[in-house]
Amino acid sequence: MQSTSVEFYHFSGSGNTLLVAEAMAAAFRRRGVPVAGHRIEKGFAGIEPGQCLGIAATVAYFSTYPFVWRFLESLPPSPRTSDGAGVEVFYAGTMAGFAGGAVGSIRKILTDKGYRPIGAKVFLMPSNYHNVAIDRSANERRASKARADAASFADDIAEGRAAWGRIPVVSDIVASLARREWGPRGFRKKFRLFFDRAKCVNCGLCAELCPIGNISLDPDGTPQMGDRCEYCQRCVSFCPEHAIGIPGATHQQYRSVTLEAVRSGTLGLPEEGGDAR
Ligand SMILES: Cc1cc2nc3c(=O)[nH]c(=O)nc-3n(C[C@H](O)[C@H](O)[C@H](O)COP(=O)(O)O)c2cc1C
Ligand code: SF4
Ligand code: SF4
Repeated sequence: MQSTSVEFYHFSGSGNTLLVAEAMAAAFRRRGVPVAGHRIEKGFAGIEPGQCLGIAATVAYFSTYPFVWRFLESLPPSPRTSDGAGVEVFYAGTMAGFAGGAVGSIRKILTDKGYRPIGAKVFLMPSNYHNVAIDRSANERRASKARADAASFADDIAEGRAAWGRIPVVSDIVASLARREWGPRGFRKKFRLFFDRAKCVNCGLCAELCPIGNISLDPDGTPQMGDRCEYCQRCVSFCPEHAIGIPGATHQQYRSVTLEAVRSGTLGLPEEGGDAR
C-alpha cells in the first residue's frame, strides 16, 4: 500500500462486519497507519490523494444491500495521486456461506470510477438471519478466526500482498439482480418483519439505527415500519425489548457488538468528547 492513512467506510447490521473492520483498523494502527472510521449510512465525506479508501459491508442476497450499492454508485470519481493513478481501495465483507456477486461487482463499480483496487476478502461469520438456536461457542470460534484473518488481511494490504479477484459473468448477473432489489422485494412479500406493539417501550432506537430511514416515530414514540425495508437486521438485533423480529416464534435475537460500537462507528477510537471503548 502506498497510501499513508485509511478512510474506512463500513456497514454492519448485527455487528459481524464491524468486528472484522475493527480488527483490520487495529492491525493498520499497530503498523502506524491512521484509520478514520465512517458509517456508510451517514454518506461519503470525501477522499484525498494519499489516503486509501476502505469499504466493509455485509454480504446479502449473494452481493450486498441495495443501499450499499447506492452508496458505492454515489462515490465521486477517484482523485488522481501524484503518479497519475487513482486512490487505492480495498473491500472486506462478511457472509454466512456464499458471496458470489459481491467481490467482483464492487471491484468493477470502483475501478470504473478510477479507484485502484488493492485487495478484497470475504470472511465467514455466524448467520445473523433467523437464528432458531444460537450456538455461542461455535459462533465465537468463527468470529475469532475471522478477526485473526482480518488482521492478517490488513497486513497483506499494507505489504502489497493482497489480491482482488473477479468472476465477470457471475458477479455481474448477481449484482444486477441485487441492485434491482430482487432480494428485499421477495422478503417484503414473504418474510415481513413483525412488530410487537405490546413489547415496545417507545425508546426510538430502531428508528435511530435504521440505515435507510425506514422506521418513523409517531408523536408518542411508537415506531411505524415503512415499506422500504432491506432486512439488514439492525433493528431486529438491537431492539432492547425484542419487539421486532423475523416471523416465526422460535427466532432468537443475534448481535455480535455493543450498541456503542455501532453508534460511534470510529472502529475502536474514542469519539471526540467521548470515552474509549
Ligand atoms: C437479508 C440477509 C441476506 C443475507 N444473504 C446472505 C448471502 O447471500 N450469503 C451469505 O453467505 N450470507 C448471507 N447473509 C448472512 C450475513 O451475510 C452474515 O451473517 C453477515 O456476517 C452479517 O453481517 P453484519 O452483522 O455485519 O450485517 C444474509 C443475511 C441477511 C440478513
Ligand atoms: S427499539 Fe424496540 S422498544 Fe425501542 S422503539 Fe423500537 S421497537 Fe420499540
Ligand atoms: S427496518 Fe430494520 S431491518 Fe429494515 S432496513 Fe431498517 S433497520 Fe434494517
